[in-house]
Amino acid sequence: MSVQKIQIFDTTLRDGEQVPGCKLNQAEKLVIARQLEALGVDVIEAGFPVSSPGDFAAVAAVAAQTKDATVCGLTRAVENDIRVAAEALRGARRPRIHTGIGTSDLHVQQKLRTTREDVLARAVAAVKLSKSFVEDVEFYAEDAGRTDNEFLARVCEAVIAAGATVLNIPDTTGYCLPHEYGAKIKYLYENVKGIERAILSTHCHNDLGLATANSIAGVSNGARQIECTINGVGERAGNTALEEVVMILRQHPDLGLSTNVQTRRLAETSALVSHLMSMPVQANKAIVGANAFSHSSGIHQDGVIKCRETYEIIDPKEVGVVDSSIVLTARSGRAALAYRLQKLGYDFERPALNTAYASFLTLADRKREVGDEDLHALVEQEKLVA
Ligand code: KIV
Ligand code: ZN
Repeated sequence: MSVQKIQIFDTTLRDGEQVPGCKLNQAEKLVIARQLEALGVDVIEAGFPVSSPGDFAAVAAVAAQTKDATVCGLTRAVENDIRVAAEALRGARRPRIHTGIGTSDLHVQQKLRTTREDVLARAVAAVKLSKSFVEDVEFYAEDAGRTDNEFLARVCEAVIAAGATVLNIPDTTGYCLPHEYGAKIKYLYENVKGIERAILSTHCHNDLGLATANSIAGVSNGARQIECTINGVGERAGNTALEEVVMILRQHPDLGLSTNVQTRRLAETSALVSHLMSMPVQANKAIVGANAFSHSSGIHQDGVIKCRETYEIIDPKEVGVVDSSIVLTARSGRAALAYRLQKLGYDFERPALNTAYASFLTLADRKREVGDEDLHALVEQEKLVA
């Protein structure tokens, strides 16, 4: 089976930064952009240049700094937005303009207060103008998740004819179910004339917790780019989490899809973004949460100590985590206690281990977690002999 490449389009600095209270200054954006490049993302969406002078300057600075990745700037289908984005991207080695407009009837009628025909004309004009500045033009059909497929296909055909080479199909409100989103991508792949000259891109929001599942449904049905953010940061419930989709494709070679991401840099990238955005990562977050590779119940600990794969599908080193952790709580068993004591240099075997375990349980019932200091103290105080 031939393996197809999925482009990773990171929008931490644009869609991700739209989180209230998580604003980044230019220096912080440059640090994150450098890390994203080292991580191996294909496209860095650096910002929305027309939105503020600060964002314009940040996009220009990321464009000047970035060597290999494509640097992208967002615009509405508005002439001034596009001219300003083109100016901000002037120093980029690989510039991309990401322009677009709402295509669902809700957006056409209620937000834009216009007609489908007018939206179509504006979309084509925006792509043509963008194309006069840069070769690489991506078009987004905002609220594509709730857009009628026939109209969406017409828009896609028209913008490809105007020069767009990437078609972003956003589930802007995170409403779609995976089978629906996958079917939408398949429909476009099979019905849009000229689709061989462009690639389809997923851009999923997480309002129902389905952003990752929808992105995977998208690439399983023909999309070749995933738009995502580190730690899944983004408006409301956030965007597709980069680390999740990358590791799903890696752990499932049966999908026949791969990325250029250096997975061993995922943990450090997650920590950097979390720190600079002052946005803690939930402990049980897949791949990068503090508990993603920690085991606290006796049955699981016993299994992992005997053979890591019994309860872990990913080697933590593959995502940059040094090792799995065996956390000692009142739910831990003798195997976990012996393992942790051994790491501290105490080699307990039964029956001494039984005595140590009884003292440990008394302590563990009082404390949430028993740490190394506690274990040393326990051995000393109880005069336990290894
Ligand atoms: O969610 C969305 O529709 C977007 C577009 C502006 C690409 O972020
Ligand atoms: Zn979005």
